[in-house]
Amino acid sequence: MKTALVTGAARGIGLATTRLFLEEGWRVVMVDRDAPALAEAASTVKAQPICADVSIPEDVARIVAEAGLEGGLHALVNNAGVADFGPIEATGFDRWRTVMETNLDGVFLMTQALIPALRAAKGAIVNIASISGLRASTLRVAYGTSKAAVIQLTRQQAVELGEYGVRANCVCPGPVRTKLAMAVHTQDIIDAYHDAIPLNRYGSEREIAEAIGFLCSDRASYITGQVLAVDGGFEATGVGLPALRQ
Ligand SMILES: NC(=O)c1ccc[n+]([C@@H]2O[C@H](COP(=O)([O-])OP(=O)(O)OC[C@H]3O[C@@H](n4cnc5c(N)ncnc54)[C@H](O)[C@@H]3O)[C@@H](O)[C@H]2O)c1
Repeated sequence: MKTALVTGAARGIGLATTRLFLEEGWRVVMVDRDAPALAEAASTVKAQPICADVSIPEDVARIVAEAGLEGGLHALVNNAGVADFGPIEATGFDRWRTVMETNLDGVFLMTQALIPALRAAKGAIVNIASISGLRASTLRVAYGTSKAAVIQLTRQQAVELGEYGVRANCVCPGPVRTKLAMAVHTQDIIDAYHDAIPLNRYGSEREIAEAIGFLCSDRASYITGQVLAVDGGFEATGVGLPALRQ
């Protein structure tokens, strides 16, 4: 049986990804630092929960020890993330570090610690970045920069780990109505996104999970170092001026 480890699995995109792997017959290890949310989510699925913070090296070592990876790790989904939108001048160093700790340090630490297990199974890594890592926009100095770094970190992982048969790819979701997004998206932002996205809507957790599942599967066996935007066409729209529409 193949094993997947999903971080930030207590809700949102991580929980949808957990469900997809389980449907496809995988064993899943769910990692999250929100103990009550993780316990509630784990009670609805047949997966192994580990309460831990991916940005703390000691927690990461415990995850590796408790995950039962003697048979190797076939898929690592670095999905745990935090969002914080604010202007550059109002983004204090503490806010900057809070975003970087989870979004960037967490991906680095988890992947590094799990290289032996990934090598053993010739596994796949999927890092979750964001359209905010592909295109700059206001208020995302920390979030967008952390996600752009995740894109480059993915390529770095692909290049260095390819010789072990380990693949690394990146999924950049467009907006999805999760707790993370709803904490920072006002109604004005939601309306503007609908307007700017060719498919005219937010994505669903399941639509993001489908792309993650594909990249972790053998169907993607020759794909590594790639960045896949799952965004309703947002990345493809160059000049989105309302005045240029019919
Ligand atoms: N929802 C969107 O619109 C959207 C868009 C683009 C990218 N993303 C990215 O998708 C990923 C999942 O986001 P979501 O919308 O499902 O968010 P969410 O807030 O619903 O879920 C994120 C989960 O990660 C957990 N988490 C956060 N920091 C952690 C840490 N340090 N250690 C362990 N667990 C931690 C949280 O407890 C939470 O359960 C994130 O990386 C996010 O940046 C989301």
